[in-house]
Amino acid sequence: MSIQQPEQPYVVELREVTKVYGGVRALRGVDLLVGRGELVAIAGPSGSGKSTLLHLIGTLDRPTTGTVRIAGHDVAGLSDRELSALRARHLGFVFQQFHLAPGVSALDNVADGLLYTGTPLRARRERAAAALERVGLGHRLGHRPNQLSGGEQQRVAVARAVAGDPPLLLADEPTGNLDSAAGAEVLGVLRDLHAAGTTIAVITHDPEIAEWCPRQVRVRDGNVVADAGAGTGRRPPGPNPKRTPETAPNAETAGAAKGAPR
Ligand SMILES: Nc1ncnc2c1ncn2[C@@H]1O[C@H](COP(=O)(O)OP(=O)(O)OP(=O)(O)O)[C@@H](O)[C@H]1O
Ligand SMILES: [Mg+2]
Repeated sequence: MSIQQPEQPYVVELREVTKVYGGVRALRGVDLLVGRGELVAIAGPSGSGKSTLLHLIGTLDRPTTGTVRIAGHDVAGLSDRELSALRARHLGFVFQQFHLAPGVSALDNVADGLLYTGTPLRARRERAAAALERVGLGHRLGHRPNQLSGGEQQRVAVARAVAGDPPLLLADEPTGNLDSAAGAEVLGVLRDLHAAGTTIAVITHDPEIAEWCPRQVRVRDGNVVADAGAGTGRRPPGPNPKRTPETAPNAETAGAAKGAPR
């Protein structure tokens, strides 16, 4: 099967999705549609099912019942190998822990994320450098993770997630390990990516970050209990806004109209 990008309106399409772990009903029948270019917060208390939802959207796990379609592909119809290919082409992940390889330069941490796309090394490094430029780290290509601040490390992780230009970026508490200034820098990067057309889902238990997103999906006890601003935040793809480390913490420019919280 070829994992091409079919023309369809939804990047994420969940229909009556449930997930049961042993006796725990982590998701109890979730319907969720995310269109191209949206910036969506998935918010809710601890244990409400946010990470479970992200794992299903990220095709890291399969639903117990219901349908998950990502970029038009029904996950149920795909083998594990095909799912890996779908993830490599369509999805970027950022987690609370940065998951960078220690002792490896920022450039190669990002370039290695493109290994599974079959891109030759030189082209991988070129794309990695461009991605690091996008997150304001063009001046830190040779730095290893232990030579970078927490916010810089998370920006490397974001660069790795978007280096392959995935249509969907999934972030689970991306600022959870950062102080407020570094967190604002990372949110600034997400805002810029959103402004440039990337569809983004951010999991957060921080109400301020949720409010900052044009759309907020609220999860409680395995159900979506509110969905404000669905279909908003779509933007036509455009040139990536120029940003510098100096301007990053101030989110008053392009992208979301609201400033980055904290
Ligand atoms: N692998 C698993 N096995 C058993 N139960 C699980 C598993 N993963 C999650 N759960 C349970 O499913 C429910 C939802 O968990 P989930 O991790 O999705 O919550 P969350 O909203 O991400 O919480 P947090 O904000 O604390 O990260 C919880 O009750 C959790 O204990
Ligand atoms: Mg979680």
